[in-house]
Amino acid sequence: MLNVVVLVSGGGTNLQAVIDGVEAGTIGNTRIAGVISNNQNAYALTRAKEHHIPSACISPKMFSSREEFNERFLEEVDRMKPDLIVLAGFLVVIPPAMIKRYRNRIINIHPSLIPSFCGTGYYGLKVHEAALARGVKVTGATVHFVDEGTDTGPIILQKAVEVEEGDTPEVLQRRVMEQAEWRILPKAIDLIAGGRVTVEDNRVKFI
Ligand code: GAR
Repeated sequence: MLNVVVLVSGGGTNLQAVIDGVEAGTIGNTRIAGVISNNQNAYALTRAKEHHIPSACISPKMFSSREEFNERFLEEVDRMKPDLIVLAGFLVVIPPAMIKRYRNRIINIHPSLIPSFCGTGYYGLKVHEAALARGVKVTGATVHFVDEGTDTGPIILQKAVEVEEGDTPEVLQRRVMEQAEWRILPKAIDLIAGGRVTVEDNRVKFI
């Protein structure tokens, strides 16, 4: 059984897709051990409570230094004994010690086709604003392992989504979520839980 801890900051629609997948059995052999948010008002925490999933809130704002936060955050995650950590719209930088301890066991969903519109400063709606400003005709989403860089880890799954005439960032964001994010994030977890994903030479291989 794959023990998954989901880290969230906002609405939690990707968390919901994971909860639904686990409950429906489309994500096999998986249990959500806990949800951690840096934002106590995140609706994602309500979703966790509604499904009786243990949750916690820990934010850098609660500590006098980043080092102290990083230590306590790692302890909180360790306590939930994850086999896999899922970043589902989590907006806090992952402590280097956590990346090291959970090498190739942390995945992130990003709302573009990496390497487009990713890296520092590209998160949430900003990604879709940038895609529209550049005039791309196709965008999408990516699930990747987390390494020391920002959105630089090995890519697990990607799905393309068409940009349509007259799209606003909000409309495009919703389409990317519906057509890509809520599909590839649960699918990636199912593949990992099934032991189908390995990393070789910094690239994902399916077995
Ligand atoms: C999602 O679109 C996710 O891809 C994005 O934040 C949103 C969270 O929505 N993540 C990033 O931009 C990370 N760089 P949700 O809380 O409804 O799942």
